[in-house]
Amino acid sequence: MSATNEMSGEVYYPSAEIIANAHIPDYDAVHQAATDDLAGFWDKIARENFEWAEPWHTTLDESDPPFYKWFVGAKTNIVHNALDRHVKTATRNKAALIFEGEPGDSKVYTYQQLNYEVCKFASVLRAQGVRKGDRVTIYMGRIPELMIAMLACAKVGAMHSVVYGGFSTEALLGRIEDSASKVLITCDGAWLRGKVIELKEIANAAVERSETIQSVICVKRIGHDVEMVPDRDYWYHDLMALPIADPNAPTEVMDAEDPLFILYTSGTTGRPKAILHTHGGYMVGTATTLKWVFDIKPEDIWWCAADPGWITGHSYIVYSPLVLGATSFMYEGAPTHPYPDRWWSLIAKYGITILYTAPTAIRGLMRFGETWPQRHDLSSLRLLGSVGEPINPEAWKWYHRVIGNESCPIMDTWWQTETGNFMITPLPSVPLKPGSATRGFPGVQVDVVDEEGNPVGVNEEGFLVIKRPWPAMLRTLFGDPERYVAQYWSRYAEQGWYLPGDSAKKDEDGYIWVIGRIDDVIKVSGYRLGTAEIESALVSHPAVAEAAVIGVPDELRGNVIKAYCILRDGFEPSEQLERELRDHVGVEMGPIAKPSAVAIVDSLPKTRSGKIMRRVLRAQTLGQDVGDLSTLAD
Ligand code: PRX
Repeated sequence: MSATNEMSGEVYYPSAEIIANAHIPDYDAVHQAATDDLAGFWDKIARENFEWAEPWHTTLDESDPPFYKWFVGAKTNIVHNALDRHVKTATRNKAALIFEGEPGDSKVYTYQQLNYEVCKFASVLRAQGVRKGDRVTIYMGRIPELMIAMLACAKVGAMHSVVYGGFSTEALLGRIEDSASKVLITCDGAWLRGKVIELKEIANAAVERSETIQSVICVKRIGHDVEMVPDRDYWYHDLMALPIADPNAPTEVMDAEDPLFILYTSGTTGRPKAILHTHGGYMVGTATTLKWVFDIKPEDIWWCAADPGWITGHSYIVYSPLVLGATSFMYEGAPTHPYPDRWWSLIAKYGITILYTAPTAIRGLMRFGETWPQRHDLSSLRLLGSVGEPINPEAWKWYHRVIGNESCPIMDTWWQTETGNFMITPLPSVPLKPGSATRGFPGVQVDVVDEEGNPVGVNEEGFLVIKRPWPAMLRTLFGDPERYVAQYWSRYAEQGWYLPGDSAKKDEDGYIWVIGRIDDVIKVSGYRLGTAEIESALVSHPAVAEAAVIGVPDELRGNVIKAYCILRDGFEPSEQLERELRDHVGVEMGPIAKPSAVAIVDSLPKTRSGKIMRRVLRAQTLGQDVGDLSTLAD
């Protein structure tokens, strides 16, 4: 690729060879066709690429906005498309998943083997009383059994709710109770940086206080002693060895619109929101976006280095690669363990062809210099990807030059837990600008508008909006449809537009530059955290009367958390207390939510109605203009 100046700014044009070999060589034509006939566009894709037990009578039902429905009347199961249909063809002998553990152990599952495990575990779940529509919480490290557990839930028609293994007791318990999960699937621990994260211990602490969990299934990953509660806790391998573990378990036939999973994510206020995705539309959307954006070919080895506990892992480690019959690679541990070249050595060892990761990881690895990647043969790579936050041009260029040898286009994909799949993204045939996610995926109508919904001028900041529904969109918030409407569809109710909660600019060429969140969501290392959850963790400490947290820009992690606390009577500020409060958040919420600094203060800026004005705190902290203070109480 080369940088020239035909478009505005710095542009990297794809080579003629890349364009010729891409699934979609002409973005503009396909995007136009999808725009002209959105339902027809998806109807054709859905008919030609997936198996359905019964067809749909309506491709897109817009009769009750914003409760859109796709492929209405159709029957299928995403697992039928991800596994069942592949084991009937030569794909059964292909590697579905190549796994390497942090200690260096390695395992390959062919489609046949993965299906065998999923069938057995699905019947174990059925024997535990799990039925269609039930919720199952999964709390595990990044190991193949996590994928097996998710697929087994989907196969029996239960909704999985995966809680990221980096979260702690409170976060886990809150999500278990909100979803009213019957079963928890966990493991005895996870490897990270050569140390064990005691997942079972955290799970025990949560389940002790849970009113809904009836049984716990525990995978043995580490092999050390953990507390197993009789008649409640079962070893995964024990259950899988029983005759009830049927390798021919049937796949539940689901409506296209039946829930596939819920996934909690942080919202503007209050408790986390349970985003709900479905079998039909989610399958069509995730598989099509992966195929076109990362140009998946039969011989590829695809590495999405995210955690399956986040939407990126759900969509692009577990479901869409399997639906496409592709080979995925999964690595358990930290990129820098035991040395900063672990990732690069994995690319060379397994011949990875596409790497998809987050800007924070790239910045983290960049720090160690070029010698580490240069020690390894990275020539198998042909495409790179980025997700989670805006990628700064410096990191983009390093990734492009040092990892991609200046020949791998970088797909900077903007999307959300809610959107289910890539929304603003290049395709390999599209010219790139470092730092911009370019334009909408075919059929995705994105714009940048002001408060009233008028398009803002070129390079002016405004609100990102999405103007038309898409198949993989969230359908609702589990148990809270009002909040679904209020959160995403109320600001532009008249126009019927979806509000993602990001600010952005659009340049002369129509390229979108995402700036960041407009709400109280903080992105730390690409992870989405809500201020409310961290604040309630702080207030649960006996010394804290009130707390406010803000995100402060950080070179490595994008943002770090700074907390402000007012103490209760009888407590004195001290460095030791500040440290204790940081650790307390770590224990309650998980290490990822730990504030980098805690300041003890006498008061917090509030509106007259008592709402904390984090905007003012942030401006003060960063030494910026505090802006309009007319609503400030004091
Ligand atoms: O602010 C945007 C940012 O991440 C948010 C969504 O977070 P989450 O639901 O956790 O999903 C992350 C992985 C899909 C968005 O509202 N974001 C995500 N990708 C990008 C991004 N910001 C800029 N550029 C991106 N490529």
